[in-house]
Amino acid sequence: MAYFNPMRPSYIADPYPALARLRSEAPVFFSEPHDAWIVTSYAECLAILHDEATFASDPAHSTGRVGERIGQQRRKQVLGDTPRIGQSDAPIHGRLRGTVAAAFTPRYVEGVRAFVEREVEVLLDTHLKPDRPFDALNDLGALLPRAVIGLQLGAPEVDRRQVMEWATALMQTVNADLTAGRRADAEAAREGLLAYLGRVARGEAGDPDSLLTRMARAEGERLSTEELLALTIDVALAGNDTTANLIGNGVLALVRNPEEQIRLRASEDYSMAVDEMLRYDPPQQAIARFTCQASTLGGRRIPAGATVLAHVAAANRDPAAFPDPDRFDVSRQGERHLSLGLGVHYCVGAPLAKVEAEVALRGLMARLTSIRLESGAVLQRGPDWMLRSAGVVPLQTGGLLRG
Ligand code: HEM
Repeated sequence: MAYFNPMRPSYIADPYPALARLRSEAPVFFSEPHDAWIVTSYAECLAILHDEATFASDPAHSTGRVGERIGQQRRKQVLGDTPRIGQSDAPIHGRLRGTVAAAFTPRYVEGVRAFVEREVEVLLDTHLKPDRPFDALNDLGALLPRAVIGLQLGAPEVDRRQVMEWATALMQTVNADLTAGRRADAEAAREGLLAYLGRVARGEAGDPDSLLTRMARAEGERLSTEELLALTIDVALAGNDTTANLIGNGVLALVRNPEEQIRLRASEDYSMAVDEMLRYDPPQQAIARFTCQASTLGGRRIPAGATVLAHVAAANRDPAAFPDPDRFDVSRQGERHLSLGLGVHYCVGAPLAKVEAEVALRGLMARLTSIRLESGAVLQRGPDWMLRSAGVVPLQTGGLLRG
C-alpha cells in the first residue's frame, strides 16, 4: 500500500527510491498524517503550478489541520497576518513582486557577476588550504549568498550585517517554540529595522539607487509598513539556505559522479550543469498550495480547502518527462525541472542563485584537480525533508590543489 513517511532515516538519506515507488503506485496521494495531498508526477505538478486560480499560495484557503497550524503560527509571529510574497495571491502578490522584481532580472544580475567572482576568490583564498579539508557547503555555499544579497539590497558594508541580523531575529518568530526572549529580540529587531528603513527612505542611509531604497520609498504608496518589513526579510533570507544547498548538493553530485566532472571540465558549460544539479537534488523539495475550489487531478477528486504539496523533487525524476531520470548528466537537455517553481511565483531570485552557483563551481573546479570527499567523511543531513541539505561536504585538498 502506498505511503509517504519523510521522517524515516532512510528517506532523509535518499528520498528518491521511496518517491519513485509512490509516483508509480499513487502519483496523487492523500497522506492522512500530513492532512495533505502529495503529488509526485511531473504532469500533475505542472498542472498545479500553472493553475493559481485553483491552487492558491495563501494558506488562509486551507480549512484542515494544516490551515489551523499555520494560523496558530502566524498569530505568534511579530508580523502576524501580513501578506508575504510567497504566500499571497493576485492582486496582492503582483503588487509585492512588482516592488522587487526589477532587481533580479538576468540583465541586472549580470551586473553583479564581477562581485560574485571576487567574493568566490576571497572565500577560496581564505578557506581552501592544503593542510585541512574544505567544506564546500559551509566554507563556500553558505557564505556566498549572504554577501551577495547584502550587496543586492544595497545596504553599505557597515549596515549589511545589522540588516541581516534584524531579518534573522524577525524570522525566528516563525519558529514553533517561540520563547519570551526570542519574541523580545524580534520586537527589538522590528523597531531597529523600521528606523533604519525610514532613514533609507529619507536618503540618510544606503545607496539611493538600491533595491532597499526602492522598497523603503514604496512604503505608504505600494506597501504598508508591515509589508515593507516582511518583503525586506523575505528578500534578505529566501536565497540563503536554498543557494547554499544548491552548491552543497551540486558538489556532492559531482563527487559521486567523477565521470561527469571530467565531462564538465571539457564542456565548461556551468550554466547547464547547475540546472542539472537543481533537477537532480533540489534544495527545496516541495511547493505548497491550497485549493480554492474542488478539482480533479490525476483522476483523484481534491476538495476545496485542501493542502497540496507539489513534490518537485519527485516530479524531476519522473521517467515520463526525463529519460533515465536517476542519472546525473551535466549536459542534459529537454524538459525543464521544477526546482525553482513555475508561473507567477517562479523564484524571483533564480538568475542570482544560478550565477552564484556557476561562479562557485567554476572557481572550485579551477583550484582542485579533482573534487573528492575527504576520506572517512560522514554527511550530517538535517531532519528537514523539505529543505534538502548535505549538512557538510568536506572535500579532500591534500595533493589536489593546483598551483
Ligand atoms: C537555489 C536557490 C533557490 C531555490 C532552490 C529557490 C526556490 C524557490 C522556489 C521553489 C520558489 C517558488 C515558491 C512557490 O511557488 O510557492 C521560490 C520563490 C521565491 N524565491 Fe527562491 N529559490 C532560490 C534562490 C533564491 C534567491 C537567491 C532569492 C533572492 C532573493 C530568492 C527569493 C525568492 C522569493 C522572494 C520567492 C517568492 C516569489 C514569489 O512568490 O513571487 N530565491 N524560490
